[in-house]
Amino acid sequence: MEIGFMKTILIANWKMHYGPMKAGGWIRAFRRERLPKDLDIVVAVPHVSLAAARASLGRASIPALAAQDSFWTADGAYTGEISPAMLLEFGVQYSLVGHSERRIYLGETDEMVAKKAAALQAAGIAPVICVGENEAQYKKGEMAKVLKAQVTAAIANLKPDGKSAMIFAYEPVWAIGTGKACPPQAAKEAHEVIRSAIQKKFNSNVAEHTRVIYGGSVDANNINEYVTTTGVNGALVGGASLDPRAFALLCRTANPA
Ligand code: PGA
Repeated sequence: MEIGFMKTILIANWKMHYGPMKAGGWIRAFRRERLPKDLDIVVAVPHVSLAAARASLGRASIPALAAQDSFWTADGAYTGEISPAMLLEFGVQYSLVGHSERRIYLGETDEMVAKKAAALQAAGIAPVICVGENEAQYKKGEMAKVLKAQVTAAIANLKPDGKSAMIFAYEPVWAIGTGKACPPQAAKEAHEVIRSAIQKKFNSNVAEHTRVIYGGSVDANNINEYVTTTGVNGALVGGASLDPRAFALLCRTANPA
């Protein structure tokens, strides 16, 4: 498969860190840093911090804003949920979907992930669909089987020419927050599995032009190994994004020009 040129994307995932009191400070500190222009830089903040992040950004577009989750209908009797339409009010351009922490702690299923991804796409927000095998599955050699099933389920309701392009994040559960990053060559193989599932549902053109990024213990020391690996179009960064200066350094390392 010939992977088409796609701009590298780096997404900071704060997870459940930084409420509105701290979110603005992170954005301001990050924007004071020298930031590379040839990357898409995104920050995924908690829902309650979107307003503060937006206010600190003003009209600036770097970093772009992402949500960490989103529900599958525009409104309705769904206590506690947040819809894509609500996210749009903050200028959110991306949303994570199906992060393993949500699958593990909140029981999110492949079916829910598929519905959320489709609703986001219909609203014009790019779904960043997270997939990845856990440690037991990895040890049993089931990476490809797990990814194939998760990807196929997640794209069931998506359109290849939808309003916003889907992105996949390969995040092996055993590499998240453990300091045991997946070797780039193994990530490359996983990304190939993801692209072949996309190809099967759509076609090779869609597969070649869908960004697939890696996540799991990425930091400024190893980012280069990933962004220089064919088929790896960026990274989803948790722990190493909490310090705005460290994340800015990671961005500059990924794109030293
Ligand atoms: P990590 O998290 O960078 O802290 O491993 C990545 C993620 O879960 O998105």
